[in-house]
Amino acid sequence: MSKVNEIIKFAGLNLKNPVFTASGTCGYIDELDDYMDIEQLGGWITKSITLKPRKGNPAPRVVETNGGMLNAIGLANIGVEKFIAEKLPLIRQKDTAVFVNVAGQKIDEYVELASKLSDKDGISGLELNISCPNVKEGGISFGTDPAQIKEITSEVKPACGDKPLMVKLTPSVTDISKTAEAAVIGGADALSLVNTFTAMVIDVRSRTPVLANRTGGLSGPAIKPMAVYLVSRVYQDVAKYAEIPIMGLGGIRNGSDAAEFMIAGASAVSVGTSTFASPDASLRVADGLRRFCESEGIKKISELTGSLN
Ligand SMILES: Cc1cc2nc3c(=O)[nH]c(=O)nc-3n(C[C@H](O)[C@H](O)[C@H](O)COP(=O)(O)O)c2cc1C
Repeated sequence: MSKVNEIIKFAGLNLKNPVFTASGTCGYIDELDDYMDIEQLGGWITKSITLKPRKGNPAPRVVETNGGMLNAIGLANIGVEKFIAEKLPLIRQKDTAVFVNVAGQKIDEYVELASKLSDKDGISGLELNISCPNVKEGGISFGTDPAQIKEITSEVKPACGDKPLMVKLTPSVTDISKTAEAAVIGGADALSLVNTFTAMVIDVRSRTPVLANRTGGLSGPAIKPMAVYLVSRVYQDVAKYAEIPIMGLGGIRNGSDAAEFMIAGASAVSVGTSTFASPDASLRVADGLRRFCESEGIKKISELTGSLN
């Protein structure tokens, strides 16, 4: 029996531990239900959901890189009605926090999604995806402009009822503290950072980009030091004063990576790309974080948050 207290308070929720799965890398729960005990996780963040089903971008839409991967999935998903009818019943049975990630092209679409989802049992909170680099409208175009972030957050927040709203930030900005501050002023209950970094891989023989979308989002261990820096920036400049928790992510593979994000200022962490290498990577991260705390004599995992010297 672990001597470490893992209970984490996050945007009004009590989590069993601070480790989540990251949006878009673990589907809607049923995909990984046979591979791991989902209830041992702090929480789950679903793939982005839009009002209407989306096919996403043409293939090829993923490519491996040194220490990571590029994806340009383009928010392929089953749409909110099918999500509610087919995926929510299983989600509801799971005793773990579930954030539903929502995406759209117009503010009204985000508001409609939030009102369709926020009155449903089994959903703990919503994550606003305003940072997808792989779609033409919405996505990252909202997420790079503080004025639009404030507007969309303040319009979606009332549609969330009593459920917390987490805003997912893009790293592809000059000053992430400005976008974080805009989300907080708009009423965000939590911030998640980071989404992928816009990037390109070129086939040198054909001299064409490898991805059909030409560009994609870089994720995985290659982005971890940049993501840790951005979490630290937002914690020091915004989150610490506003008392807004941060969900940190970007290349987390093990307990020590998770601890690094928490020391930088994250209250919880998510595991994305590592899941493609091993489906139960998030559980291993949770276990590794527990063992790290034991070996360091840390009694409460939450003590790590913002403990950077
Ligand atoms: C294949 C793939 C699909 C993704 N789809 C989404 C998505 O639908 N919505 C979203 O907000 N983020 C999406 N992301 C971004 C991840 O949630 C995460 O922010 C990013 O990959 C960094 O974490 P990681 O390095 O642990 O993967 C996706 C990432 C990958 C690799």
